[in-house]
Amino acid sequence: MNTLKGKTIVITGASKGIGRAVALQVAAAGANLALMARSEQELQDVKKMAAAHHGHCLVFAGDVADEAFVNNTMEATVKKFGRVDIVINNAGFGVFKPSEEISATEWDNVFATNVKGTFLVTNAAIPYMKKNKSGHIINIASDVAKRVFAGGSLYCASKYAQDAYSMAIRKELRPFNIKVSVVYSGLVDSSFHSDPEGHGSHNWWLKNEDMANAIIYMASQPAHVVIDELMIHPLAQEY
Ligand SMILES: NC(=O)c1ccc[n+]([C@@H]2O[C@H](COP(=O)([O-])OP(=O)(O)OC[C@H]3O[C@@H](n4cnc5c(N)ncnc54)[C@H](OP(=O)(O)O)[C@@H]3O)[C@@H](O)[C@H]2O)c1
Repeated sequence: MNTLKGKTIVITGASKGIGRAVALQVAAAGANLALMARSEQELQDVKKMAAAHHGHCLVFAGDVADEAFVNNTMEATVKKFGRVDIVINNAGFGVFKPSEEISATEWDNVFATNVKGTFLVTNAAIPYMKKNKSGHIINIASDVAKRVFAGGSLYCASKYAQDAYSMAIRKELRPFNIKVSVVYSGLVDSSFHSDPEGHGSHNWWLKNEDMANAIIYMASQPAHVVIDELMIHPLAQEY
């Protein structure tokens, strides 16, 4: 954890769920934070909680698929903290139904957040990371970047795409000392699902804090170590 002290960490989808849990834990570790999501009020609430540990937290309310918003966010982050060390591309959502019931708009929206958002935020960070000859991009995919299920055509396609993008940029960025990691997770009890967070049927699922622990473990490795991939499930989930 100590290795995160003073590091600048950009987290997308930090207003709730996994992103929020990561933000609160890395704040406690003394990192400088730049948090992105669309819900301004929820981001402000996370900032308030983060401030209890550490004062350095910027919040940016907007859409990760909006190129100008993303570029302005990265610029403002570097202006404030001088650098960007770690980017956690976590913002994402799914639409789950048979393909013939999925509209073109739903298709575009899921790809805009899960794939284009990852691409835009990564691209905005790369020049700063190259300049520092170091950096770490951590993309939160899903185990459905490696398996598919009926009703998951759109979400699985977006996560396969996010994963393929990650694998390709890993090859591009390694010569510049920039790590690219992907997290493949099973069920997590967040607001992602149709049942609310904390629903009794989620008792055996991963908690947001379990995911935060795993992500922070990846982010805390020594400079010469990269965990390229991390697969994580509730023990009770068949895989
Ligand atoms: N929960 C699971 O079982 C599970 C399993 C595997 C993988 N994942 C992945 O884990 C990641 C985090 O999900 P979660 O479970 O923590 O879900 P969540 O609780 O619904 O959180 C999703 C976060 O993404 C943000 N977001 C969504 N669309 C956005 C956009 N266009 N621009 C900016 N922010 C946006 C949301 O904030 P706003 O609404 O305020 O924008 C929220 O902060 C996702 O990529 C998801 O695919 C989740």
